[in-house]
Amino acid sequence: MKNSISPTSIFLMLLLLLHVPLIQCSIFPLDDESGNLIEHTCKKTSHYDLCLSSLQSNPQSATADVKGLAQIMADILLANVTDTLNYIEGLIKQSPEPELERSLTYCAELYIPVVKYTLPQAIDALSKGHYRFANYGISDAAKEADTCEKKFSGSIQSPLTDWNNLVDGLSDVAVDIVNILLKG
Ligand SMILES: *[C@@H]1O[C@H](CO)[C@@H](O)[C@H](O)[C@H]1NC(C)=O
Repeated sequence: MKNSISPTSIFLMLLLLLHVPLIQCSIFPLDDESGNLIEHTCKKTSHYDLCLSSLQSNPQSATADVKGLAQIMADILLANVTDTLNYIEGLIKQSPEPELERSLTYCAELYIPVVKYTLPQAIDALSKGHYRFANYGISDAAKEADTCEKKFSGSIQSPLTDWNNLVDGLSDVAVDIVNILLKG
């Protein structure tokens, strides 16, 4: 028996070569829209890496739609703002020097309403589809973080820079995702 390539196998191989690119063409655009909704959404935000790592840290993101991703981002923001306030209150308890204590107290007063009212209300509005009101509250977190950080412009270095920057970035990302909903 001769061991050669039959015309049939050549035909099958050609078929395979021609079909693989066709299959790829038809699958990948679909994948981009649905399978990679997280990446697709994060590309439309101002902090791609922060958006991606934040959303990927929550397993619920995998099956969420854009509204769900906005809600997950807003929840992460609230957790971070709460964490930041706790950190500030911890620093105040360590009885720092008066000037530092004044700035920390000022920052706590900025963060308390965000944690207690503004963000929970925004998250509630988001779930009801009141996106404009939601964005108003979500963007307030970044505004307060900026105002807090600026309080340390004098001789005292801010112990809160990393915290304020993270709140700022998370707030921006959440606003950007809600803006996708507003345009959609
Ligand atoms: C704050 O945000 C970061 C970045 O997404 C996240 O890794 C971290 O878990 C958040 N903190 C809390 C308390 O959720």
